[in-house]
Amino acid sequence: MKRKKIAVLSGAGVSAESGISTFRDSNGLWENHKPEEIATLQAWKNNMDGVLDFYNKRRKELQNVRPNEAHLAIAGLEKDYDVCVITQNIDNLHERAGSSKIIHLHGELTKVRPEQGVYEKDFGLMEVFDIGYAPIVRGDLAPNGKQLRPHVVWFGEAVPNIEKAIETVSATDIFLIVGTSLAVYPAAGLYRYARFDTPIYLIDPKDTVLKDKRMIHIREKAVTGMQTFMKMINESE
Ligand code: OAD
Repeated sequence: MKRKKIAVLSGAGVSAESGISTFRDSNGLWENHKPEEIATLQAWKNNMDGVLDFYNKRRKELQNVRPNEAHLAIAGLEKDYDVCVITQNIDNLHERAGSSKIIHLHGELTKVRPEQGVYEKDFGLMEVFDIGYAPIVRGDLAPNGKQLRPHVVWFGEAVPNIEKAIETVSATDIFLIVGTSLAVYPAAGLYRYARFDTPIYLIDPKDTVLKDKRMIHIREKAVTGMQTFMKMINESE
């Protein structure tokens, strides 16, 4: 029998119990930094050192944290389901937990690429390099002689992997959303592509902006929420 498909959309909340700050919770990253001063091409032009420093700190922090039980439970779903993780996170904790199909919507901290023009439509066409947990500084150049920049998507830039994510959500049997405020588009609109009969589970301890008849809100943190989710899907099979 064909295995059922689960698409997982994750946000910063899935990594919170690993010790990584979210963006919009109290004391979150965007409370202590203005996004327009860090995560835009304009910020890169005006304040390259500040932008590099922000991502260098995130990269260093990533080296010292580990996937939590929620990342592991999501990876474990692959025993019984055909799973694709669509993540807004730039950390590599889904990879390190063992998930095998991952779409990074907002890029990856451990990768860099040469700076180019305003919109880079297709990451696939560009040279992307693994940097691991090392810092990048002004003057670090790609082989083409251009300054290296973090391989992340900034506000105002295109989201090259959104088409793949839409295809995945359109074809899924179960849509699981974990730890995201759904404040940033196009990721926040992905649920609209789920089939009319696809259940949408949302794990988040807080109220949500998502209003949809198909939604089942598991109002818990990611680790316990994943246990509840697994019980619910086992009972409904
Ligand atoms: P947010 O900080 O906006 O939202 C985090 C969500 O996680 C909130 O809804 C919290 O209630 C929830 N949360 C907190 N702790 C949790 C826990 N232990 N378990 C489960 N949920 C928990 O982060 P994102 O929605 O991921 O983009 O933000 C989306 C994008 O905005 C990011 O990818 C980033 C940011 O600006 C860019 O930088 C382009």
